[in-house]
Amino acid sequence: MSGDGAETFRRSTAEAYDGHVGRYGSELAVALIGLAGVGGGDRVLDVGCGTGLLTAELAAVVGADRVAAVDPSEPFVEACRLRVPGADVRLAAAEDLPFADATFDAALSQLVVNFMGDAEAGVSQMARVTRPGGTVAACVWDYAGGMTLLRTFWDAAVALDPAAAPLDEGASMRHCQPDSLRALWESAGLRDIEGAQLTPSVRYASFEELWAPFTTGVAPSGAYTVSLDDDGRRALREEFHRRLGSPDGPFVLTARAWAVVGRR
Ligand SMILES: C[S@@+](CC[C@H](N)C(=O)[O-])C[C@H]1O[C@@H](n2cnc3c(N)ncnc32)[C@H](O)[C@@H]1O
Repeated sequence: MSGDGAETFRRSTAEAYDGHVGRYGSELAVALIGLAGVGGGDRVLDVGCGTGLLTAELAAVVGADRVAAVDPSEPFVEACRLRVPGADVRLAAAEDLPFADATFDAALSQLVVNFMGDAEAGVSQMARVTRPGGTVAACVWDYAGGMTLLRTFWDAAVALDPAAAPLDEGASMRHCQPDSLRALWESAGLRDIEGAQLTPSVRYASFEELWAPFTTGVAPSGAYTVSLDDDGRRALREEFHRRLGSPDGPFVLTARAWAVVGRR
């Protein structure tokens, strides 16, 4: 994936992201922070901070002045600065982190490694800026299985349009299984590597609330949605709705992310 998927985030508004998968972000962040063992007094980095959902939860634990964050999307960096005043938020990519070696006690990254142009380089940089003995942790969606929102979306899309199969994030994302994440952590020289699954859930007021962000073009799923003509988009909406059990009121979806944590 990387290229095109990452590009959608440079053109997106923070509101579109926060209404889409961002709805899962705060609960996911709390679980990732717990897994990484971040505690008061730590100095921490959020890599690929997006609109700042993980950054804000890190700041709640260690204080904003002990949090740094980077993202290559200008609108997202701006949104993160507004969300977490006092944090050091910079426009930068994982592959070229603008920090000295061993600056942080922990470097975390939520739902980002698949969007890095060079994930091996990005994770190696996360290790470089973490002190010896410090923690490097990340999570990615289980696109192929337990991330119900995106799994159901792509199942609907491919059922209607088999040519969309290569765009299915369950197929296109390189790191969406525990083994691959572990191998990525090993490639960065990290040790004491452990995996976990994180299962945030979201309550939607209506199907329309779930669907609207897809029509903004945010993320690979949104980019596919806006590439369709009106009839195609209408058919996708109906098939997606049907596959979610045709909800006509509030409903809850659970997601699964694979997480990995290792020590520098
Ligand atoms: C799915 S969003 C996750 C955002 C945030 N971490 C969250 O949990 O809500 C993916 C993010 O990765 C960022 N990104 C893309 N390429 C990147 C790279 N090479 N280095 C760091 N971040 C990158 C995007 O701009 C976007 O903000």
